[in-house]
Amino acid sequence: MTGEKPILITCFPKISQILAEEVKALGYKVLQIENTSVRIKGDWQDIMYLNLHLKSANRVLWEIATFDVVKPDQLYKAVKKIKWHLLIAKQGYFSVQSYVKNDFITDTRFANLKVKDAIVDYYYDLLGSRPDSGPDLSKTVIYLHWVQNKATIYFDTSGESLTKHGYRMDPWKAPMNESLAAATILKSNWQPTKDHFVNPMCGSGTLAIEAAMMAANIPALWNRRNFGFMHIIGYNRLAWTKMRRDVKKLFREPTVRIIASDIDQKAIDICRKNAETAGVRDYIKFEVCDFKKTTIPREPGVVFLNPEYGERLGEESELKEIYQSIGDFFKQECHGYTGYLFTGNLGLAKTVGLKPKRKIEFLNARIDCRLIEYELYKGKK
Ligand SMILES: C[S@@+](CC[C@H](N)C(=O)[O-])C[C@H]1O[C@@H](n2cnc3c(N)ncnc32)[C@H](O)[C@@H]1O
Repeated sequence: MTGEKPILITCFPKISQILAEEVKALGYKVLQIENTSVRIKGDWQDIMYLNLHLKSANRVLWEIATFDVVKPDQLYKAVKKIKWHLLIAKQGYFSVQSYVKNDFITDTRFANLKVKDAIVDYYYDLLGSRPDSGPDLSKTVIYLHWVQNKATIYFDTSGESLTKHGYRMDPWKAPMNESLAAATILKSNWQPTKDHFVNPMCGSGTLAIEAAMMAANIPALWNRRNFGFMHIIGYNRLAWTKMRRDVKKLFREPTVRIIASDIDQKAIDICRKNAETAGVRDYIKFEVCDFKKTTIPREPGVVFLNPEYGERLGEESELKEIYQSIGDFFKQECHGYTGYLFTGNLGLAKTVGLKPKRKIEFLNARIDCRLIEYELYKGKK
């Protein structure tokens, strides 16, 4: 691939506006925003930069070709016309993924097979041999987006999804997805160089670690060693190494305090280990305590809570008390802070008993969730 080409960055539903803001903040012109994607244009440098930095994205797709096709055989013919030997190495390996909404296709695997056959047959016709193919996403990944008569073939330059930021090794109860956690922080009013970030009930530490990485200016995917783009002809390893070196020069010591607490020692052990992997262990203060006892430094700051919400763990009635005491904790201990509650149980959220300033919709594993913002004054405003 050479030159500027359309780039489609995908994300979870309901966060494309947050993703668009993130993309703009990285210096790009956003051309289109849809429910689960943001469209821009870019070249090799941009592909590497976006994959390294994007906190709230799923995948960075780079357009190879687009065509009007209705039937599977038309797709096969169109894909076979692409000059694949200039894109994927003959001794390489590729996988095909897709999103298809088309009257002729009921099983996306059939569309994937058509694309795979077209690439393989192109190679055989030209060179008498072909790259290997299969389900592994750690090499070259081709992505077909086919809605009615419009089909677009992309490279999935991310390969494995970008939602995993590569620092969470051990499992813990109901962890937040990393890119979702980052999206909630981006949507909050937290200022990484000005406000403390307090995360009681931190569990495996996703929110605190994402915040610490932002405060230290460490890109979200800094810990990822393999991306789809590394398996496309034209990838320049020296340019990638230089980009990483330049980015590293911008790392900084956080100027704010980041506090992560949980009642469970095991959660804190996991959180500390994850923070170590993410390179931010020294920037977080870990506490084993009930959430009400968490250290709250002098304002300004935000306090972010993601309690269990009864869908996957615990029962609603037992959690009611916790949500009520979150309200008391906010009111009594967090004056001058902005409080954030991320929950998938809107009924329980009401028992907090404080007036929300904002409610922002999210979807977490198909559960309708809210990030609820509270301005925490002493007494009444
Ligand atoms: C839903 S999990 C948080 C998951 C976290 N956001 C993550 O990404 O891993 C809720 C956490 O609250 C903790 N917890 C429950 N009751 C608590 C309490 N009274 N005080 C402090 N932590 C508590 C649990 O141990 C659990 O780790």
